[in-house]
Parts: sequence; C-alpha cells; structure tokens
Amino acid sequence: MAKVRFEPSGYETDITPGTRFIDVTDEHPEAEVPYSCRSASCGTCRVEVKEGHAHLLAPEDDELEVLEVFGDDPKQVRLCCQIRLKDEGRVVLRVVEP
Ligand code: FES
Repeated sequence: MAKVRFEPSGYETDITPGTRFIDVTDEHPEAEVPYSCRSASCGTCRVEVKEGHAHLLAPEDDELEVLEVFGDDPKQVRLCCQIRLKDEGRVVLRVVEP
C-alpha cells in the first residue's frame, strides 16, 4: 500500500501499485482535483509532486508534451489524469492553481 495525500483538500487514502490516480479521484471527489479533457491535452489537472516522485511511473510522450507547453519540469509537475503509482511509498500532490 502507498499513502497518497491531495492538497489543498487534505484528502488522504491508501492505494496499491498500478492504480491510476484519476480512478482514485473519480471515486473520491473530495480530493478536489479538477479535470477537463482527461486525456493529456488540456493541462487542467496539473499537480505539483511535493513528495514521492520516485513512486510514480514515468510520464509518456503525450503527457510530456503538455507539461512542456506549460513550462513544467516533469520531476515537479504531473498531469493527474495520467499518473499511475509505481510502487509503495508516500506521495503528496498539490493541485496547481490555473
Ligand atoms: S484533464 Fe486535461 S490534461 Fe488532465
């Protein structure tokens, strides 16, 4: 199990490796992560990775292209609609204000 915390909502839950974060936030809207396209094109769901970058699977090309448009470092900011947990550990994500 990995502990995941969403900020600024403060919602925390335990998830298993391989879990898609969008599935977690769909099931728990109290995590308060905003989405629009849900497919790595709009950047609405950008989250700062405050802890646990190493526990996330690496971004694929379509995610990297969106992050580049926003000038984000993929080691610091990810698209929540694309993130999957790689292994166990603590992850803290903060929603990036538009
Ligand atoms: S919801 Fe559009 S990039 Fe994630």
